[in-house]
Parts: sequence; structure tokens; C-alpha cells
Amino acid sequence: MENIQNRINCLRKELARHNNLYYDKNSPEISDSEYDSLVKELERLELENPLFASLNSPTQKVSGVASLSFERVKHSLPMLSLDNTYSQEETAKWYERVEKRLKNENIEFTIEPKIDGVSASLTYLNGALIIGATRGDGEIGEDITENIKAIQSIPHKLKINNPPAFFELRGEVYMNKTDFEKLNEDIIKADGQKFANPRNAASGSLRQKDAHITAERKLSFFAHSFGKIEGKQFQKQSEFLQFCKECGFVLQNDFKICYSLKEISDFMHVMSSRRDLLQYEIDGLVIKVNNLPFHNELGYTNKSPRWAIAFKFPAKQATTQLNKIRAQVGRTGIVTPSAILEPVALAGVTISHATLHNFEEIERLNVNEGDIVLIERAGDVIPKIVKVVKKEREGFFKPPHNCQSCGSEIVKESEGEVAYRCINPECPAQFRRHLIHFASRSAMDIDGFGSAVIDQLLERNKIKTLADIYNLTYNDFINLELFKEKKANNLVEAVVKSKRRPLSRLLFALGIRHIGEKSSEIIAKRFRNIEVLFNANVEEFTRIPEIGEVLALSLKKFFDNKTARRVVDALIAAGVSTTEPEAEQQHGTLFEGQLFVLTGELEHYTREQAGEIIKSFGGRVVSSVSKKTDYALAGADTGLKLEKAKKLNIKIINEQEFEELVKQ
Ligand code: IVH
Repeated sequence: MENIQNRINCLRKELARHNNLYYDKNSPEISDSEYDSLVKELERLELENPLFASLNSPTQKVSGVASLSFERVKHSLPMLSLDNTYSQEETAKWYERVEKRLKNENIEFTIEPKIDGVSASLTYLNGALIIGATRGDGEIGEDITENIKAIQSIPHKLKINNPPAFFELRGEVYMNKTDFEKLNEDIIKADGQKFANPRNAASGSLRQKDAHITAERKLSFFAHSFGKIEGKQFQKQSEFLQFCKECGFVLQNDFKICYSLKEISDFMHVMSSRRDLLQYEIDGLVIKVNNLPFHNELGYTNKSPRWAIAFKFPAKQATTQLNKIRAQVGRTGIVTPSAILEPVALAGVTISHATLHNFEEIERLNVNEGDIVLIERAGDVIPKIVKVVKKEREGFFKPPHNCQSCGSEIVKESEGEVAYRCINPECPAQFRRHLIHFASRSAMDIDGFGSAVIDQLLERNKIKTLADIYNLTYNDFINLELFKEKKANNLVEAVVKSKRRPLSRLLFALGIRHIGEKSSEIIAKRFRNIEVLFNANVEEFTRIPEIGEVLALSLKKFFDNKTARRVVDALIAAGVSTTEPEAEQQHGTLFEGQLFVLTGELEHYTREQAGEIIKSFGGRVVSSVSKKTDYALAGADTGLKLEKAKKLNIKIINEQEFEELVKQ
């Protein structure tokens, strides 16, 4: 019994601490779902042990308090919270309870995003905004009128004739994802402490003593419910929202009226998959009975209405211990730190790794091995560390002095550069990474030639250069782990097949610094043959609109390098193709059947190159202007052709306009 009481007290204290971190400090240490499971545990213990129940327990109150730094405002009606569900099944149970209580099957429901922001109450007297307040403890909030007025999308006067005498609407103040990223970038530039998520950023920005700062932070507002209203009546939640729109508020597009559980479930599925595509963070959906007269019938519990439920999405953030920081060497020698975590469940999967980007990020986070960290996983991306919530070790993790693979010194190639590199061209870790890249799907696409195969072949000293891949035989493969006849034959075939990849793939596979898939394609289409690339100068590269100086210099450096020549020669000797086949109409039908005349000197292209582009979009270049000509592409120093084109009213475009057209 004593143990139970201790646990209850401990949970109450812990929850009060987390409430303070979340509502007042804007700096939570745990995710919403971790918080909710503490609440659930406390609720269960209190229910099973009524002796220890207390009205002061966090389970009986709306969380949050009004801080002393703002004037206090008493809400016209309490601002309640919502009960949460975490699954379709729990939501279905709520739905059935509502139907049963109302003894009615003709109930309409609304389903809206649950925006992860800060709730606020706005009071309009005869159409004029007079009070803006936070929720506080639900009874008393903070007066943040000036800050609320600084939010652009909140009207100071309702934009309707005959506004209600008293109108208190409630909603969520939030920050769009892009505005949040931008704000954090600015904060980092100013050496400040960045916000962990848009909700904290919105809360921090809203509760500024200086409303000018609030005005600078881009906040938005979304109306979702109301308090006391005099001089206007609504029958439905959807009517209320429509009225808000007429008054000048912006509504969310993702709102639906549903007439059955099936419709609700379908929309829940749709929104769960669209979550990451939205401009703002949502942590779930709110399902409400649309018919307002039913609200009174259903009534309220201590802290939430029975006519609404929040379906919460799996959390995106969780806390765990960072066990180790590993410094891995990539194929270009860049040493990238990554975090090995104590495995933790997050958004339906177990997470045991997180990216750390670079060593500057480690310094900024002030993170070290052993620290307790808040991690976040958005969409499919690898989780990242948001912040340290508890330091276990002094200072931050320093970059190692030597490459963990070859032992060479790790350096920053130039001051101002963020990345540390192992500059040993023979570093085995770099070569291993390069092999994986070379064989990967978007490079030479050697099916079955993944890291497991590569590791075994390296161990057996079967590959020392890229071209060695093409000397491998059936006998080299058949002895590998899990290889049988068929698999070995397939791999032989895949290696042979990869010899015929176009130049664009080979260029990408060679791993030239800064040259990605797209630029490899552009370069290959312009130069067609690797020998031309070996002889090209920087200017020839920069003439390509998409190739800037950095890329051009990198290409030049690569093709001037003797090792590159040796590598390519060995590949050629092994039978690897080094040309780009002519492809007709690669781009589509933008200029289908259109005739072009080229006149004057073009800045970025030779005549041939411009002709190629026109051809690839389905057009044709003709030498003289006639009535049939559709476009005259005019460069500098044009002559008679342009005069004639003007006379015949032919569409004349300059080089920039041409580029705009083909870019689309
Ligand atoms: S309706 C009785 N609708 O979620 C409360 N709330 O966890 C009626 N929230 O305090 C609120 N989006 O600040 C409602 N579409 C939405 C919402 C929403 C976010 C917030 C609201 C509330 C909290 C409850």
C-alpha cells in the first residue's frame, strides 16, 4: 500500500514538473505520448485506490497555470481539454458510446486537424477584439491581448455587419513548419538556443513581453471552438466555423463532416498519411459531434467534453540515452558522426540510430556520449537529435584526430569548411563506400552487389580497384555466404550487364565531388563521350546553364587527375561503355512540331547545343525564316533573320526566355 502511495505521489510530482517544462518553459523533456502514459498510469492507480484520490491531482485538472508575468483573465466559461485515443478501436468505442448515450443514429460528426500549437481565447465585444488570453489552468489565463493583436491573421474587428454583442472564440496559435525552420536558423545565427518544435516556438513567441517580437515571428491562428456567445446562435460546429470565415478568420482545408464511423476512419487514414505534407504540425485529429444541441445532452467530465475526442498520432519525439558516437568515413572521405542510441519505440518503429550531421552540430547541441537526448523522427527520414535533456558527461564530443579505418590524420581542408575529412586516397573505408555507391541502383545498378557481398570480396582481397569488379568470376561468387549456383550466375550476369550503362550513370558512379545524379545526366547529354570530358576546359563546363563554377572546377580537377585517367582506362579495358547514346525526344512534347530559327550569338550554348535541346522537346531547327516558322531564338548581334521574323510577326524569344521554357 505504501508503495502505491509513493508511486502516486511520485507520478503527481513528475507530472507537475513536466507541466511546468511544457507550459511555462516551452522546453519539454518527454514526448506527448510518454506524458500521456504517465497520466494513464496515475489514473489507473487512483481508480484502483480511491483512498488516495485527490482533486488536486493532475488527472483532475486541466494542465497549465497562468504565469505571474502577465495580467490574469478569468475565462467566460472554462477552457477544457480533450480526452485522447490512440487507435481506430478506441475511437470506435467513443463513437459507439456517443450513439448509445444519445439513443440516436442520425448524428453528424466533424473531423478536424489537431494542430500542435498553443490554445488561445479571443473575446470580441460588438465586433471589436478586446481580450486575447492563454488557457492557463482552464479557469484563469494570461492576458496576452497585445501579442494576439500582433498576429496578422487575427482580425481586430470582425468583418461582418451586426456582429454578436459578445463573442468568445477559441483556437490554436501555431507556427508553420517553414517559418519555424527559418526562425531556428536565425536563432542559431545569433548563437541562441533553438526551439525543439513549432509548438514551443509558437508558445515562446506568443508569450513575449514585447509584442513587437511576437509580430516579427510569423504566427498563424486557427479557430476551433467557442466560449460564451451573446447575440448569435449556432446549430452546428460547421456553422460556427463558417461564421468565423465570414468574420475574417482563415479556415483549415482539412475539415470534413462525416455521417458514419466508416467515413471517420477513412478520413483518419487519409490524414495520417498526409500528416507530413501539411504546412503545419498536427499531432492528431479532433472528432466532434457536429450538432451543438447534442453537446449539452452528452455533457462533460471534470476536464473534457464527452462530445469530442482527440485521436492522437504516434509521437514523433521521444527521449533516450545516447550510448555512443561513431565517426564514419564516407566515400569522399568526409567523416560523419552518427549516434548509437539506447533502442526506443517511436512512431511505430524501434529507433537505435540518429544522425548528427557534422561536428558543428554536436558542438551546438553540446551533446556527449551518455547524455539523455530528445530525438525526433519526421516522415521517413532518419531520426535526428533535437536537444540534450539531461547531461551525463561534461562538454561535447570532439572529432577524432585519426581516421578510424586507415589511421590517417583527419583534417578540415580549408578554414570555414564544416566537414572533417580523411584525405588518404587509399583509405579502405572510403574505397568500400565507393564500391557500394558504384554498384548502387542509381549508379551502375549491379543488382545483388550490395555491402554484404562487397565486404566479403574485400576481405578475400578480390577487389583492389573499381575495374576489378569486372574481373570477378562465378568462382569468386559461389563461395560467398548464402550463395548458390543461381545467385552466383545472376551476379555474373548483373556485372556484365552493368558494362552497358550510359555515360551519365558512369559519371555518377565515379563519385566526382559535387556531381550528383542530375548533373551527371546533364553533362553526359552535352558531352556524350568521356574522352571529350577529359579534354574539356572549365569554360566549356560553365557554359552549361546548370553547371556553376564549383561544379565546373570539380569536374576539371577530376579529369586532370592521373588516377582518374588510370581508373577510367582500366574500366574501358574491362569493356565498360563510356558514351551516352543519342536519345530522341528525351524531354517530351513542349515544342512538338514547332519550327525554330536561330539567330545571333547565344551566350550559353553553341548552335548545335541549342538545336539538340529543341530537338529533345520535339521541335526542329530550320535555317531560314518563313511564315511557317514558329519561334526565332535571338542571341546577341542579330541580323537580317530577326528583321524578317519581326515583319512576319513570328514569336521572338531571347536566350533567357528560352531557358525558362525548357526549365518547366
Ligand atoms: S476543440 C473542449 N479542436 O487541443 C476543448 N481543440 O488537447 C475543445 N486543439 O486545448 C477544443 N486542435 O487547444 C479542438 N481542432 C481542434 C483542435 C484543438 C488543437 C487543442 C486545443 C485543446 C487541446 C486539447
